[in-house]
Amino acid sequence: MIFIKTPEEIELTRAACDLVSRTLGEVAKWVKPGVTTLKLDTIAREFILDNGGKPACLGYHGFPGTLCIEVNETVVHGFPSNYTLREGDIVGTDCVTELNGFNGDSCYTFAVGEVDEKTKALLTTTRESLYKGIEAAKAGKRIGDISNAVQTYVERRGYSVVREMCGHGIGKSMHEDPEVPNYGRRGIGPVLKPGMTICIEPMINLGSKNIVIAQNGWECRTRDRKPSAHYEHTILITDDVPEILTTFDYIEAALQENR
Ligand code: MF3
Ligand code: CO
Repeated sequence: MIFIKTPEEIELTRAACDLVSRTLGEVAKWVKPGVTTLKLDTIAREFILDNGGKPACLGYHGFPGTLCIEVNETVVHGFPSNYTLREGDIVGTDCVTELNGFNGDSCYTFAVGEVDEKTKALLTTTRESLYKGIEAAKAGKRIGDISNAVQTYVERRGYSVVREMCGHGIGKSMHEDPEVPNYGRRGIGPVLKPGMTICIEPMINLGSKNIVIAQNGWECRTRDRKPSAHYEHTILITDDVPEILTTFDYIEAALQENR
């Protein structure tokens, strides 16, 4: 069942989204060679708690982190660990915060120092594909229009779309209907209506689309061990163009400072 949010619920979602965006802005300050992913996780958790929120991933079906950590070939759901980031790595940090009963969800994949050109291009295209998906998310269109916009954009550039995981509705729960796949046909799936809040999150591989899930049931990596990128925004469907409720502005400001 897809919920249409009331104006009050939208306000609460907006606040949760601001918190998750600011959290990733804090994380961004720490992304550099020599830092462990556990440190990034601690930064995120403390920032969320200091701001009256709850780290929604922590303990979710037993997940052990505030952040999902996605280093290089890790697609999604990596655990924070004592792995030390190195120059040339990429690291996705996927975070959900709950604030006053509503959730905000966002993900950003960072370059750690200088990364090779091919990987840099993967990051750029994946990020652009997120905005292509968002542009397609107009009231009256369907989920398949978002899916198709993402897929077409990345496949034309030679990348592949992970099939096993997708975006989702969000609200009181971090995962609500509808599912928002990053591949599929235009004109299929649920109709988009004003007041829906959904997460669009392309997971895009440099090599083949195939993934492997670890023994622990969580961590997903590419089968060919080539890099994978992941960006995510929570958006609101409106009468007009969609409103992006999360923002990368805090991240970008932090990255400017880091230079
Ligand atoms: N943030 C992820 C998403 O985009 C979900 C995290 S899974 C969890 O849907 F178990 F870690 F919470
Ligand atoms: Co999500």
